[in-house]
Amino acid sequence: MNITLQAFGSNGGAVDLAKTVVGCIAVAVYEDRKLSTEAEALDREGAVSAALASGDLSAKPGSALLLHNPQGVAAKRILLVGLGKAGAASEKTFADTVRVALRALAGLGASDAILALPMDSVAQRDASWAVRHIAQAVHETAYRSDTLKSEKDPMRDGVRELTVAVAAGAGVTAALAEGIATGKGMTLARTLADLPPNICTPDYLAQSAHALAKEHGFAIDVLDRDAMRELKMESYLAVASGSQQPPACVVLRHDGGKPGEAPLVLVGKGLTFDSGGISIKPGAAMDEMKYDMCGAAAVLGVFRAIGELGLALNVIGVVAACENMPSGGATRPGDILTTMNGLTVEVLNTDAEGRLVLCDALTYVERFAPAAVIDIATLTGACVTALGSYNSGLFSRHDDAHDLLAAELLEASRYTGDRAWRMPLDDAYREQMKSNFADLANIGTPGAGAVVAAAFLERFTRKYTWAHLDIAGTAWKTGAEKGATGRPVPLLMRFLCKRAELNTK
Ligand code: BES
Ligand code: MN
Ligand code: ZN
Repeated sequence: MNITLQAFGSNGGAVDLAKTVVGCIAVAVYEDRKLSTEAEALDREGAVSAALASGDLSAKPGSALLLHNPQGVAAKRILLVGLGKAGAASEKTFADTVRVALRALAGLGASDAILALPMDSVAQRDASWAVRHIAQAVHETAYRSDTLKSEKDPMRDGVRELTVAVAAGAGVTAALAEGIATGKGMTLARTLADLPPNICTPDYLAQSAHALAKEHGFAIDVLDRDAMRELKMESYLAVASGSQQPPACVVLRHDGGKPGEAPLVLVGKGLTFDSGGISIKPGAAMDEMKYDMCGAAAVLGVFRAIGELGLALNVIGVVAACENMPSGGATRPGDILTTMNGLTVEVLNTDAEGRLVLCDALTYVERFAPAAVIDIATLTGACVTALGSYNSGLFSRHDDAHDLLAAELLEASRYTGDRAWRMPLDDAYREQMKSNFADLANIGTPGAGAVVAAAFLERFTRKYTWAHLDIAGTAWKTGAEKGATGRPVPLLMRFLCKRAELNTK
């Protein structure tokens, strides 16, 4: 769908909404039959108020009513969407209303539409926030996961040209670009994540990265098994050793910032399948371990977005891909591995493989002298227990006001609704990973599993500013709605766009 911005009479423009010839205009109405300014503009001959008087629309958030050939309006249809009580809508109410409107538009026989919602109706948020959200939502609602079905789910062509009614300005134009780029990045992340593990192998991720690099002009380097051996990434290689699929550690580089400026580094866990290895997982829902590469998918999604935007920032993305399988060559419980930074690790459970891969990837990125490193990983079931599917777990070293990285990520998470919750990372948790035979064990004594895993990674990140996002509960949905969410691409993109903004000031 193509999205453009235009001001109408109701928001400062010269064009009269009621006189605009278009397939459909979506406007908001409130409970108690109150009209938004935009709905009012279409009600000169009573088309909207007559529909409300009929009682066909509750105006509760999520409700919608389609009017055909409305009186006194040049548009063929009006879509009334409920925005709840007049006054300040919550972010969620606004987001739900946008989703309902976009879904309805997608099912219409019309090819063009105007979305004329009250863009300033959310408390503390401005029109830029609303436009960024709408653009992202356009891509989110258009996502389809039926590419491998021989009979596709039925779908109308729907609206292809969407005009968002908003007063012009540099802020909203930038917000539109950010929203579109974020939406496209989420689509890539979801597409890769939803692919089955027999198709989306480490090599497939590397090929996808190559395609992205070619399209957007990123530098790319792929470390294969030999290169990883050279680098002494014994821990990473041990996880891959049970699989027929060779590992691939992809390094993408976008040089959009000032030459020589320290890069931001994103490291994604890319287990294209996590069977647990010799410590094999139980069978129930094991298919969902194809999603154990969602951190890597998010990194590739972010790279699509920064490529689209030509972001003014130096960013390095690492996709740490491999497969965790049981076999005669697989790592055993009891094995002791020497990691790239020299610390030895006793493997007590081969299913705690994410940290074994990430520790070497995190050591590897020291060479970039990063401004900051953020790793993104479906790391622990314990994080799902702690936070459920609403918040990702955010871990960062310092608990003082100077820990700006954590504060920036939290701010980005609140702004985008791609929520994260700060978790502890005290030294004390390291006690849980003591080993009699190695520097540390790869699992801890019971309790605080998500924190212990983060504390393990922390040991390998002392040379730079670092944050860890555990996305085990947020990267995909289970049950009837099974599918990747594209999170935390919005959070990361917002964070990067803010950094880029500061950079160009
Ligand atoms: N990829 C899993 C974490 C996971 C499990 C994410 C379920 C989402 C849903 C990870 O590699 C893993 O298996 N972690 C173990 C760690 C344990 C052995 C210490 C876990 O969480 O059970
Ligand atoms: Mn595992
Ligand atoms: Zn895993």
